[in-house]
Parts: sequence; C-alpha cells; structure tokens
Amino acid sequence: MSTRLRINGKSHQVDLPDDVPLLWVLRDNVGLTGTKYGCGVAACGACTVHIDGVAVRSCQVALGDVDGDITTIEGLGKPGAMAVIQQAWVDHQVAQCGYCQSGQIMQAASLLAENPSPTDADIDEAMQGNLCRCGTYPRIRAAVHTAASKMKEV
Ligand code: FES
Ligand code: FES
Repeated sequence: MSTRLRINGKSHQVDLPDDVPLLWVLRDNVGLTGTKYGCGVAACGACTVHIDGVAVRSCQVALGDVDGDITTIEGLGKPGAMAVIQQAWVDHQVAQCGYCQSGQIMQAASLLAENPSPTDADIDEAMQGNLCRCGTYPRIRAAVHTAASKMKEV
C-alpha cells in the first residue's frame, strides 16, 4: 500500500504493508539510520522519534497508524547548525558507544518542549524508559539541565 509520510519537513512516498514498524521504514526505506533498533518491544527507547512533537517508540508504531509529522534525530539539527540540546550533548560529551543516544536526545527534547525547567526528578522520570548500557545517565541529566538553561537564553 502506498503511504505518504512527512519526515523532517520533507514528503516521502513509501509502498509497504500497513503493519511495517515505522522504525524500519525510517531506516531501510528512507535511509535515516540515526534512529536505532534496540529491543523491538518498547523497552529500551533507542528507536525514539517524534510524531507531532511527541516522543514515540518507532518500533511500536505501525506505518498505517502514523498520523502526523515525523521528526528524527537528523531533523532536530545538523552538523554546523545543531539544536541546542544536541550541542549540550556534545559539550557534556554524553555519548560513550553512542548507540542509545539518538533516542535519549529525542526523549529529552520532548521533555523540554513540555517542561522547560525540569528538576532532576523530572528528568529521571521522563528518561526512565531510555536505557543506556554504558551508564551515561549522570551526563544525560547534566546535558538536559544545560540545554534547559540555554533554551531560555535564545
Ligand atoms: S527498539 Fe523500540 S523501544 Fe527498543
Ligand atoms: S552510550 Fe552506549 S548504550 Fe548508551
């Protein structure tokens, strides 16, 4: 079935069954490989993207159920024009292996859109579904606080 998607501000036509997970559409059909596969069962957060600004697990969203504009890590900002939150991640050198980090950033961006001044407890609660085997949680928390401060300056 032919489906039109709006991803990172661009229109894409895909011919795939309705039950294909959005994660695979993004990675295999649209070539946006910044979004990662971790568990496939909504338990790790590696596949997090936004639909109309809301963080969703793209491994659990069927293509036929997508209703809104999709943003992936590639659409948040770019090298040389990074989003404030991406720059905060760089400044704090958050990533270790990096595998979970696009999902972490997308989840954090969604948190900051809802709550521009999150406490440590707010951050921990919002990020609890995003797992990091490298244990970068303290740096994630610091980067979210930095991004929150910087976003108030712009
Ligand atoms: S791959 Fe989607 S939550 Fe783990
Ligand atoms: S940075 Fe390695 S899993 Fe998170």
